Amino acid sequence: MNKAKRAAIIAGNWKMNNTPSQTTALINEMKPKVADASCKVVLCVPYVDIPAAIEAAKGSNIAIGAENVHFEKSGAFTGEISADMLNELGVEYVIIGHSERRQYFGETDETVNKRTRAALDAGLTAIVCVGEQLTEREQGITAELVAMQTKIALLGVSAEQMKKVVIAYEPVWAIGTGKTATAEQANEVCAVIRATIASLYGDEAAEATTIQYGGSMNAKNAAELVAQPDVDGGLIGGASLKAEDFSVIVNAATNG
Ligand code: PGA
Repeated sequence: MNKAKRAAIIAGNWKMNNTPSQTTALINEMKPKVADASCKVVLCVPYVDIPAAIEAAKGSNIAIGAENVHFEKSGAFTGEISADMLNELGVEYVIIGHSERRQYFGETDETVNKRTRAALDAGLTAIVCVGEQLTEREQGITAELVAMQTKIALLGVSAEQMKKVVIAYEPVWAIGTGKTATAEQANEVCAVIRATIASLYGDEAAEATTIQYGGSMNAKNAAELVAQPDVDGGLIGGASLKAEDFSVIVNAATNG
């Protein structure tokens, strides 16, 4: 597998953290620290922080993403946000199917698929999250489960649209727990995802797809993870809230 055929992306997932003014301050602090990155740098922020984030990131190498999107174009869906709304603000990326949304907000593989298609139809890049729970790993079904999540998420996605799909492998047991998958475990499952994409879209598309690892990636362990042949960067939660830690991870991917 040739890593040169795809972009490494380090994306922060701020979750429900930072107000608009805190957003401006943190991005201003991050900008000079990540300016020399050779990977792509993305910050996915709460909806209300997006305008401040876009403004603060203007002229820099940081692209802004959202953390979710609704699958309908418009209508009576109180509290929801459409892909067109994000697009008009200048959002380029959107996280879809994060395990916290699956766990706390009723997200299913089917709704992940609908959101992915809506995001792609609007021209956004979808960062689609997949990953097993601890019991599923212990049951020995990680590969099958992650392949199934990937397949369902991509139902109806065209080969052309695949160019704007990023998959994030995030073992649920590693998110926010301080327990990171070993580099070998991360690589093994990212390779399963790549093989699944190859079976659906062919080898060339699979080699061109960015597949990230996420789950307690930090300034200390990032270099080893992103150096793995099938790991193309990371989706970073906790460590993306600190300018110094995030920039170390970004620069590890640059060198990885
Ligand atoms: P974490 O979160 O880095 O805090 O484990 C990762 C994620 O939820 O995307």
